[in-house]
Amino acid sequence: MTGRDPGVVVRPLTHADLPDLDLLERELFGAGAWSRAALAEELEGPGRWYVGSQDAVTGALVGYAGLWFDGVDAQVMTIGTATGHQRRGVGAVLLAALLERAREIGAAHVYLEVRVDNDPALRLYERAGFVRMGRRRGYYQPEDIDAWTMSLALGAPAAGAADDEGQGA
Ligand SMILES: CC(C)(COP(=O)(O)OP(=O)(O)OC[C@H]1O[C@@H](n2cnc3c(N)ncnc32)[C@H](O)[C@@H]1OP(=O)(O)O)[C@@H](O)C(=O)NCCC(=O)NCCS
Repeated sequence: MTGRDPGVVVRPLTHADLPDLDLLERELFGAGAWSRAALAEELEGPGRWYVGSQDAVTGALVGYAGLWFDGVDAQVMTIGTATGHQRRGVGAVLLAALLERAREIGAAHVYLEVRVDNDPALRLYERAGFVRMGRRRGYYQPEDIDAWTMSLALGAPAAGAADDEGQGA
């Protein structure tokens, strides 16, 4: 976190958010976007916890993120910030909410996959203390783009993980 005030309120997502969520998902992930049905399943799926960030002034949904807890570890399922609201700290606030939740429910680790060419997401995760574990060849299809798998051991402080190296995966 950088001390920026992104001007959002983070709150749980509900079924009523699906139309806005669907729009954001397609804006951010294009051809790889989850369908509205898939998003609905995610919101209600076992072990899932989804939050949205709402513009404190307009009330618009400008970001969302989801976590899956399997009873031992947690997985970041997705995270996204509306293009017009990026680079203001919204992603960092959402990720912090997921990590706080993961700690509360006793997850030992948090895992995620991220496209190797997704510099903003890599920066976000590395600043939160995630480290790269391995590379999954062709994880994103049909584009055939590799993924980094990343992990964060909870219990170890994330502070101090903020360094500016490691870009350009
Ligand atoms: C990844 C994403 C969620 C970050 O959201 P955000 O609200 O911009 O995040 P923040 O403002 O907290 O910024 C996070 C970091 O990314 C950096 N960043 C954001 N956009 C960037 C860009 N276009 N190029 C380079 N760095 C960028 C910021 O500088 C910031 O680093 P800093 O704290 O060192 O300055 C957002 O870019 C996004 O929605 N991308 C499309 C969806 C996506 O790829 N999700 C991740 C799937 S794994």
